[in-house]
Amino acid sequence: MKALEQKILTDGIVLSDTILKVDTFLNHQMDPLLMKQIGEEFAARFQHKEITKVLTIESSGIAPAIMAALQLEVPMIFARKRKSLTLQDGLLTSNVYSFTKQEETEISVAKKFLTEDDHILIIDDFLANGQAALGLLHIVEQAGATAAGIGIVIEKAFQDGGERLRERGIQVESLARIESLQDGKVQFVKETRRVEV
Ligand code: G4P
Repeated sequence: MKALEQKILTDGIVLSDTILKVDTFLNHQMDPLLMKQIGEEFAARFQHKEITKVLTIESSGIAPAIMAALQLEVPMIFARKRKSLTLQDGLLTSNVYSFTKQEETEISVAKKFLTEDDHILIIDDFLANGQAALGLLHIVEQAGATAAGIGIVIEKAFQDGGERLRERGIQVESLARIESLQDGKVQFVKETRRVEV
């Protein structure tokens, strides 16, 4: 997605060979117009999948997920990382290990929000090692729902999360795919758009 790639080039800060800082438009301050375009792009790419709900994980996944849900006209659910005071029972949970942060988090979603009839679109802001997306997939599986696709705002294609998810046969759409962050420069994967069904 050209507008996103352009934003990454102008506003993104390469912190190291593996970490890109995008807190001016995605991870802290958020750009609502760009988020709207991101939502439209996700909706277009998954329009044929008869999505019934969008699922993400707090906190930075929420903005792109709600915009996609708005376009698809379906509810959005975010998995919680912290225990809710009002939500104690009837939870679907999964353990997510972050290699970036070197910590494990238990994520949870109330059972009542996911049913066997649901076709779920999973959305997240970053795809690195794929642990967050795999945790969300685990929750979808526990609900007996169908994982209809995964939409990622920024994929770090030099890490193995994308491969892990795609080898499961799931449609994974990343709006920006970064090939390298070496030498302080962002390089995108050059690709001809795949048409997936
Ligand atoms: P994975 O799910 O693909 O395995 O990713 P990983 O555990 O490595 O990522 C852990 C957290 O770090 C996630 O945020 C993820 O979005 C973020 N992250 C990973 N790589 C980058 C990067 O290059 N730049 C930035 N800015 N973030 C990165 P989180 O802990 O869930 O935070 P938040 O959603 O509450 O903001």
